[in-house]
Amino acid sequence: MSVHVISIDQYFDKDLLAKLYKRANDFSKLPLADYPKPLQHLTLATVFFEPSTRTRLSFETAIQNLSGQLITVENAGDFSSAKKGESLEDTILTINAYADGIVMRHPQIGAAKQAAKVSRVPIINAGDGGGEHPTQALLDLYSIQQCRGKIDGLSIGLVGDLLNGRTIHSLVQLLAQYHVTIYLIAPDSLQLPAKYLKLLKSNGATIHQVDNWDKALGKVDVLYMTRVQKERFKFVEDYLAIKDSFILTPKQVAKMKKEAIILHPLPRVNEIDPAVDQDPRAKYFEQVKNGLYVRMALLEYLFKH
Ligand code: CP
Repeated sequence: MSVHVISIDQYFDKDLLAKLYKRANDFSKLPLADYPKPLQHLTLATVFFEPSTRTRLSFETAIQNLSGQLITVENAGDFSSAKKGESLEDTILTINAYADGIVMRHPQIGAAKQAAKVSRVPIINAGDGGGEHPTQALLDLYSIQQCRGKIDGLSIGLVGDLLNGRTIHSLVQLLAQYHVTIYLIAPDSLQLPAKYLKLLKSNGATIHQVDNWDKALGKVDVLYMTRVQKERFKFVEDYLAIKDSFILTPKQVAKMKKEAIILHPLPRVNEIDPAVDQDPRAKYFEQVKNGLYVRMALLEYLFKH
């Protein structure tokens, strides 16, 4: 049976997270020349119907670091036969003939699930529209754990587009497994969908929904910034009216705790002033690097488990 990764709520319990994070930590300490070769003779396909820098390149680096092989379709909407009208199912069945696993990003919510219904090899959801981005959540939680040494007891501020941000949708499902306080910092129209709010509440998280972050900034241990997702807006005027609601500058950072950390799944547009990058609390480029190690651990788990 193929072990797909479609949603973070499938089987990522604390035991599996601990196992993956230990392995990711091992990888982070090894020089490339000393990496094991567990995925020799296995081929991973990356098939991206939406743009990506980090997710695609980190998966591609991860498979090659583990001595596997890579095939890729960049800009699959234009440069695969989807452009000629091929169905997603036929594309996936075709790639099944060449690859042992498929990492797919697609603009439609539910596309990864649709692909998994026909695929004999694991499908890894690398983002399905405004749905989920489970492997980003794995690396986000790992980054919090690495920087703060724990998850339980933390206050976490989630900022920006909580409605459309798929990284948020996956991350909150992981955070729901812990005892946390969550500040949902967003304009009313971009607040967290009700189903995720309900999940957090039913798992005992303390929730504060705010549209002004002045009071929250000094309370959080983790500030998780996100981009307002322009591509999910029907009307550009609506995006323009709201896109600059929360911009993190050194002046805002000065209000934060000394030991707090700032994360962002990236890409950023202008919601974090580059001047913040010099602050030791800015961890988003470490977070990028963590993504490589976590995805190596995940690939090894999926193919060798
Ligand atoms: N975080 C993330 O998904 O980045 P990319 O869109 O560059 O893959």
